[in-house]
Amino acid sequence: MAWIHPVVEVIGLLLSLYVLMLGWRRFGTLHLARAGLTFAWKRHVSLGRLTFALWLGGLVLGLGASWWTWKVVFITDGHYQVGLAMVPLMVFGLVSGLVMDRQKARRRVLPLAHGLGNLVLVALALVQLATGIGVIRDMILP
Ligand code: HEM
Ligand code: HEM
Repeated sequence: MAWIHPVVEVIGLLLSLYVLMLGWRRFGTLHLARAGLTFAWKRHVSLGRLTFALWLGGLVLGLGASWWTWKVVFITDGHYQVGLAMVPLMVFGLVSGLVMDRQKARRRVLPLAHGLGNLVLVALALVQLATGIGVIRDMILP
């Protein structure tokens, strides 16, 4: 049970790096005026949604695993704090992405806010990997 959460979150992290790479091409077109870049729009949207589903579903599994293991939640200090801080950013990334997908228009500001927020999320997921390994080492293995 304790291992489901780390496995789901690591898959989410790997997927997010690919989704970010797809988004980076869009950034090049919109903000760096680079011509000839193709943006795999549908793939970005479907894998982006999958990333958020894994991250959010994984967060719930993390809380479940804590409860299962220790009969208490919110005991991993920085790991759960950063995890909870990711929630509003995930909501913004998902909602802004859905809006831009459903109502296509020439935009600059919303894609930028979406891209920046999600870049921060990928960085925070890397922090979660580091602190999560710490939780396994200090709280699960002994
Ligand atoms: C980890 C998840 C995600 C990352 C890292 C990410 C990253 C990015 C980046 C960097 C851009 C380019 C922004 C710019 O040009 O300034 C972008 C654009 C876009 N993203 Fe995402 N994204 C993610 C999830 C999603 C999701 C879940 C959706 C839809 C439900 C979505 C829909 C879009 C759309 C439609 C654009 C193009 C907007 C436009 O050009 O009008 N993204 N994304
Ligand atoms: C987006 C990434 C992640 C989020 C949002 C997240 C969030 C959480 C949350 C909220 C908890 C509950 C902690 C508590 O109640 O104190 C938790 C537990 C835990 N997390 Fe994460 N986490 C993420 C990634 C990871 C990764 C990559 C690893 C390991 C490499 C990991 C390892 C753990 C462990 C070992 C626990 C204790 C519960 C268990 O036994 O599974 N987490 N996580």
